[in-house]
Formats: sequence, C-alpha cells, structure tokens
Amino acid sequence: MKKVITYGSFDLFHEGHYRLLKRAKELGDYLIVGVTTEQYDRLRGKLNVEEPLLTRVENIKKTGLADEIIIEDHPGQKEEDIVKYGIDIFTVGSDWTGAFDYLKGKCQVVYLERTKDISSTMLREKLHPIIRLGVVGTGRIANRFVAETKFVSGIESKSVYNPHKESSVVFAERYGLNAYYEEYERFLDEVDAVYIASPHEFHYSYTKAALLHGRHVLCEKPLVFSKRQAEELYETARERRLVLMEALKTAYCPGFEKLCQVVESGVIGEVCDVEACFTRLTAAGSRERTDAKYGGGFTEFGSHTMLPILRFMGTDYKDVQFQSILDEQGVDLYTKANFVYERGMATSKSGVGVKSEGQLVIAGTKGYVLARSPWWLTKYFEVRYEDPAKIDRYEVPFYGDGLRYEVKDFAVQINKGELDNGKFGAKESIALAGVMERFMGLRDV
Ligand code: CTP
Repeated sequence: MKKVITYGSFDLFHEGHYRLLKRAKELGDYLIVGVTTEQYDRLRGKLNVEEPLLTRVENIKKTGLADEIIIEDHPGQKEEDIVKYGIDIFTVGSDWTGAFDYLKGKCQVVYLERTKDISSTMLREKLHPIIRLGVVGTGRIANRFVAETKFVSGIESKSVYNPHKESSVVFAERYGLNAYYEEYERFLDEVDAVYIASPHEFHYSYTKAALLHGRHVLCEKPLVFSKRQAEELYETARERRLVLMEALKTAYCPGFEKLCQVVESGVIGEVCDVEACFTRLTAAGSRERTDAKYGGGFTEFGSHTMLPILRFMGTDYKDVQFQSILDEQGVDLYTKANFVYERGMATSKSGVGVKSEGQLVIAGTKGYVLARSPWWLTKYFEVRYEDPAKIDRYEVPFYGDGLRYEVKDFAVQINKGELDNGKFGAKESIALAGVMERFMGLRDV
C-alpha cells in the first residue's frame, strides 16, 4: 500500500485545497492530511487563520478524500510522521517548491501545481475588507511599527499624521503613505483605525478625537497618566463599539502567551510574588533623560514591568510605594515600585540611568518561573522547583520586532467585533494608568 501525506492550514476550505487533496490521493492508496494548530500557525508566522482547528478538520473530512487526519503542532513533526506512518510520498502545492527537498532522503517529495487565483488569503480579504490604518507620530517606534505591519495581512498602513510638516512628509515618502500635518480630522476621515505613537502627553487627546470620530485605536503605552481619563476613553470606546487597545507588545507575543498558560495551569502553585525589571541606559541629552514631566525610567519602562504584575497578581493591589533615584531635574534614573497585595507582593524596577538584570521572576507556592533578559521579547523561560535538577524549559519562536503580534490581535478584534481581549484589556490598562497617576503625583512639575 502506497501512503501519501500532505499538510496545510486549510483555512476557509476552497477549490484549491480540494484539487490538491484529490491529486494527492491519486498519488497512492492511502492519504494522511496534517492540519496545523492555531498555535503552530502563529509560531510559523501565519497570523491570521480564521477558522478554529476543528472546523478545518471537519471540512477536510467532508471531502471524503482523507483516510486519516492528523494534527501538526511543532517544527520537525513532518520527519517524525514520515517514519511513524511509513510514508512513501510527501506532497504539497507548488508554492512550496524546493522547501521540502530536505525530506527526499526519507521518502519521495512531489510538488503539485497550485490552483490559480484562489487562496485562503484572498477569501479572508473578501470576508473582511482591509483595515486602513493611520499612524500618528513618526518616531522610532512608528518606523518599526509600519515595517512590522507588512507581515500582517488584512491591515495596511495608509497615512501618517504629525503636526510637523517635514517629519510627516519624510515619513510618508519612506513608506509610500499619505501625509497629514494640519487637520487631524481629515486624516481620520481616510482611515478605519489609528495607531498612536505620539509623545506620551498627547495620547489622550489623539485617542479621544479618534474614538469620537468612530475610529478604532491602538495606542502606545502608557495610554494615559490618569485613571479617570483611561476610564473615560474605554467608556467612549465601549459606547461606540470600537476597539481601544494599549500597545503593550509583550502581552501579545506567543512566548509571553505561553508563559501565561504555564503560570495559569498551576504548576508553580499560587503566585505570591512577581519581580520584573526593565532598564535601558539612554543618552544624557535624550528625551527620556531631559523631560522632567514625562521622561524617566518609570514612565518609559514601568508599563512593561507592570504587565506581569497586573496579569498575575491582579489589579486590586492594596498599596504601591515608589523609591527613585533622581537627577538634578527630578527625572528618575531608576525607580522601584513595591506593590502590596492581600496575599502577596510585587516589585517593578525600571531605569534609564541605572543598569540591572532585566529579568522576570514569578514566585509560587510550588515553584517559580524565570525569564531572563530580555524577558519582554519572550523567547525562552524556565520553570524551576525545589529540586534544582528539575527544570522545565520552554522555547518559543519570536519573529521580527514582535510588534506584528499586537497588530494581528488588533485586526482580529476589529474583525470579530470583540471589544476586550483576555491579554491586556480595559481593566489592566485602567489599573496601569492609575499607578502612573500615583507616580506622577509625586513629581513636582
Ligand atoms: N493550495 C493549492 N492551490 C491553492 C491554494 C493552496 O494547491 N490555490 C495548496 C497549498 O500549496 C498547500 C495546501 O493547498 O499544499 C494547503 O495550503 P494552505 O496554505 O492551507 O492554503 P492557502 O490558500 O495557500 O492559504 P494562505 O492563503 O493562508 O497561505
């Protein structure tokens, strides 16, 4: 009996998939179809699969062409399956020509001609019109953001806004966007959603105006410096059924998602203490070091460190105390924020003028999670126990700058009409603004 195997996501099952399976079946006597899990698709950079795994499996079943359906969930599985199932022929469409030649030592590899003019991507685009995105601000993060957005289908940067004409024009030329520098409202007219990467102090007004104009908003962290303002913005978004998301990229990257699953599975027991540190030495003349009102370690990096604190310890802290080392202008070079909870504690360390180990430790009653620097680009972490010889290691791929994951989640929320996400929603974002407000209250500028 000649055994054939093929793999794919088979999202929104279409004619191209059917023709591929039919010809794959004809290559032998027994056809095995491997269907990718959502998680594996995310890991390999396919960020926008629409249908859940079981629907995709069901659709393949309905064709009657597959003798067996298996699930593909990790790199290297193809080699394992070829041996495990005694495969004679591995086949995929011609868009993959050459990509699987490395399997030739194990079985025959056949690339079948791909059906023209149909793909899951095309169907997804029909299902949801492309989201036209406007970018507010033209700084470093905005540049990285536009470059990363290109990896997410279904959303496209269209225009840029910066009240400084020259910055706006240069940025627009660099990325082939439309430039706006005077009328924010006209800029808003042209887009469905905005990404706000302006200086911190303008987040509130740009976000508010965009929401009132009916636009979804992805706003850089910290969203605002006042709890009341954060509540007001989320309320405005909710009333208008718009997505408002704080761009805390770590919350959306697959490694941190995995870390959350591991902690929430209970392997380390009850979480009692979270210590998170993020420092970056910035130049003496930089905005971070000279802006006495909005610069400094905590406003720059405190949002990162508060992510695991609010996520694992919750938003109901009893108290938070700050200790800072200030420069002559009152800018904090280093800040330690100590949170007190009913049953536990947490520490955030952030700095622009003091360097420390940027690690995350989540301590529980049965063990702890250790994610070393840079834990905010979560690629690797360990779960450790009393027995030092026992260590569970997790390695999760992370592509590019990692901004693509938050862009993808933003687009999915818009398309599905989901106003909140379980990763860093309104509740956490409002709590973060509340902590920022307490910190800012200590500044005398
Ligand atoms: N396929 C094909 N003809 C098409 C589309 C897909 O022969 N028009 C094949 C692929 O080459 C692959 C299998 O069907 O062997 C599953 O592909 P998948 O990536 O799930 O489908 P696509 O439509 O290519 O999906 P996407 O647009 O998300 O990349």
